[in-house]
Amino acid sequence: MDSEGPGAADAARNDPLVQLSLDQLRRRTSMKWRAFPGDVLPLWVAEMDVPLAPAVAAALHEAVSLGDTGYPYGRAYAEALAAFARERWHWDGLRVEHTAIVPDVMMGVVELLRLVTEPGDAVVVCSPVYPPFYAFVSHDGREVVEAPLGPGLRIDPDALEEAFVRARGDGRRGAAFLMSNPHNPTGVVHTRAELAAVAELARRHRVRVVSDEIHAPLVLAGASFTPFLSVPGAENGLAVTSASKAWNLAGLKAAVAFAGPEAAADLRRLPEEVSHGPSHLGVIAHTAALRSGREWLDDLLTGLDANRRLLGQLVEQHLPGVGYRPPEATYLAWLDCTALGLHDDAADGPGVVSELAGPARMFLDRARVALSSGHVFGTGGAGCVRLNFATSPAVLREAVERMGRAIADR
Ligand SMILES: Cc1ncc(COP(=O)(O)O)c(C=O)c1O
Repeated sequence: MDSEGPGAADAARNDPLVQLSLDQLRRRTSMKWRAFPGDVLPLWVAEMDVPLAPAVAAALHEAVSLGDTGYPYGRAYAEALAAFARERWHWDGLRVEHTAIVPDVMMGVVELLRLVTEPGDAVVVCSPVYPPFYAFVSHDGREVVEAPLGPGLRIDPDALEEAFVRARGDGRRGAAFLMSNPHNPTGVVHTRAELAAVAELARRHRVRVVSDEIHAPLVLAGASFTPFLSVPGAENGLAVTSASKAWNLAGLKAAVAFAGPEAAADLRRLPEEVSHGPSHLGVIAHTAALRSGREWLDDLLTGLDANRRLLGQLVEQHLPGVGYRPPEATYLAWLDCTALGLHDDAADGPGVVSELAGPARMFLDRARVALSSGHVFGTGGAGCVRLNFATSPAVLREAVERMGRAIADR
């Protein structure tokens, strides 16, 4: 430590990723820590091993001490998001009057898709992508059309255009593109030019864009986030975001949907009952995070950046043949294990544990490390795993060392 100087020591002291012991984390009752047996290191679902940001904890404590546990009201969350967007993304275009509070990001996505498509219409996604994009869209009676990512795991404009043409075909009335911006699971941050090309293609093919921007506050050093609605041509776009990923608040339900100027009338058609879903404590927590949790977020991003680099070293040292492209955003690493030659056909069926196949199944069985199985992310996902590195460097090191031994002992 000494050789890294006092700056590094300060960063480590403030890093939310090193505050909790494994014993403390194992007392948690959420999905990450309970779905697998106690000898498994869980680096799968997108929860972080951090304590609550102090500003969020204080807001929740105050609400609890007041008994302020009724229904949500007002625009404080949207106002806090608009101020955050101005400061962080230099974007002044988030109009509070063009927003709606929704229960969470995925329910927001479904409701926005309902505004611009009909049952039987197609929704385009760029695969591999966050698995609920498939499940929620098809559960709501829309057909998923894939536009596989291209070189560098970036959006491929030709594949997207081809998917838009298919989505508009067969006499369908509407079509939408559900975009992950930044992209889960690759951590790619779409550039302004890429987003402008998406907007142009979407307009030309009369496809409406719904941008899922839940990972936007988690852009790491070296990249910068562009809100889809800030690019020219995206005025008829819709988006949804939340403080839930960046401040680890998934259990405190709330999110904000927002519309470009040409989509504001669509958003006004959102049924009133959708606003009954978000939790008042969720709205309080998310608002406090965006308003007063920015320093905590900066400390987190510093820790994630260090873990992203550490993971690169560990993969090189312990996981020969495994491909790792450091993410530009998120705390998710997409590891290409296809060279290990493990097939994904061992899945036992749906369910958190039984759906693991191929390399994720091998790492669970032999390394006792839980990762997300690539094949559930759609075309292009087979043979890959997603690793959540929002944990301490010690846990990350232990997990990758175990994975390395599992590969070596095969
Ligand atoms: C791209 C993306 N969208 C949505 C979600 C889920 O958000 P919520 O819990 O608010 O529905 C996640 C969670 O990891 C995600 O990665």
